[in-house]
Amino acid sequence: MTVAPSTMRAWTTRGLGIDDLAEETVPVPVPGPTDVLVRMSAVGLNYRDLLVVGGVDGWRPAAPVVPISDGAGVVVAVGDAVTAWRPGDRVSAAFLPRWRSGPLTRETYVAPVGGPVNRGMLAEYVLLDQDEAVRAPETLDDVHAAVLPAAGVTAWHALVRRSRVQAGETVLVHGTGGVALYAVQIALALGARVIVTSGSDEKLARLRELGDVLTINHRTADVAAEVLALTGGEGADHVVETVGGTNLNVSLASVRIGGTIAFIGLIAGRAAEINTYEFVTRNVTVHGIETGSHEMFAELAAFVDEHGIVPVLDSVHPVEDVREALRHLEHGAHFGKIAVTLPGSAVALSG
Ligand SMILES: NC(=O)c1ccc[n+]([C@@H]2O[C@H](COP(=O)([O-])OP(=O)(O)OC[C@H]3O[C@@H](n4cnc5c(N)ncnc54)[C@H](OP(=O)(O)O)[C@@H]3O)[C@@H](O)[C@H]2O)c1
Repeated sequence: MTVAPSTMRAWTTRGLGIDDLAEETVPVPVPGPTDVLVRMSAVGLNYRDLLVVGGVDGWRPAAPVVPISDGAGVVVAVGDAVTAWRPGDRVSAAFLPRWRSGPLTRETYVAPVGGPVNRGMLAEYVLLDQDEAVRAPETLDDVHAAVLPAAGVTAWHALVRRSRVQAGETVLVHGTGGVALYAVQIALALGARVIVTSGSDEKLARLRELGDVLTINHRTADVAAEVLALTGGEGADHVVETVGGTNLNVSLASVRIGGTIAFIGLIAGRAAEINTYEFVTRNVTVHGIETGSHEMFAELAAFVDEHGIVPVLDSVHPVEDVREALRHLEHGAHFGKIAVTLPGSAVALSG
């Protein structure tokens, strides 16, 4: 069994911006009876991490906290009462540790990993309660496993659990962010017809390399008109709304009567002027999507293994460059997930 050192590096944020991210040397935590100690291999960045590090609204930590919700690592020690895990297991943390299965409730919608109240994954070692850990897909290496959790589970929750996408149905996905790309990969594997929008022709070309997808540049084309043209005037059966704000009006104009919209995104703001009349005339179902449960993660991991889905990586950065990696995410030119490796990773760096 690997013996953990007595101290480690951890990074903390006060929500005062990327430059304020502090590297600290702290004791390696010692597992209590129900804990597992995980040596982190890599973490994956999400838009939400920028909200925590930037201290936006309710994401601002009240005290310094280790940020970043996604990661993967190897269990190196377990407490005496741990039965589900043993050293050598590869795990991630569930974004909402207490949401194991069933619908989200007030009791389970607490303490999301990676701030503002619960520590995240940006440390060389992380202590997880045995119930907080989830098993990473077997077919993915550490870096690809690290970028899957929050965005992958969110896309799974949206498409499979709520919108119940069937083979042959049409799914419209907005943008090429983390959630959007997982939605594209999952929808294709489900046998759906997929339409994707982006503001970049270059990103649209890369999307077409991912699989048989139809693409629309939302800067130069009328998205709803294009979707109607591609669907014989009916509209898409399902929309994955990863942008939010007034973009919901685009989704409402693009969805078929009786279709579904999975509402996920906050990128365009937390409030907007919406054409609510369309809710009625489209007879539409709008699902609010909050990440997902442990059970959904397990379903996604099995689906990833079964279908050979490989997360799209934009770039991989050593932890010493974590600030540059966050700025790269903030800049928005990325295509695919941005990973940051810790010393536990054996994967070569790129980008
Ligand atoms: N990641 C998660 O786990 C998670 C979970 C729950 C909710 N969410 C929410 O979902 C949203 C997306 O998160 P993310 O992590 O996927 O973000 P991300 O990786 O930063 O991607 C954002 C993408 O949105 C696209 N975009 C921006 N403005 C757009 C517009 N006006 N029209 C169309 N596309 C636009 C851009 O794609 P193009 O450059 O191709 O245009 C951009 O790459 C965020 O609001 C986040 O809070 C995320």
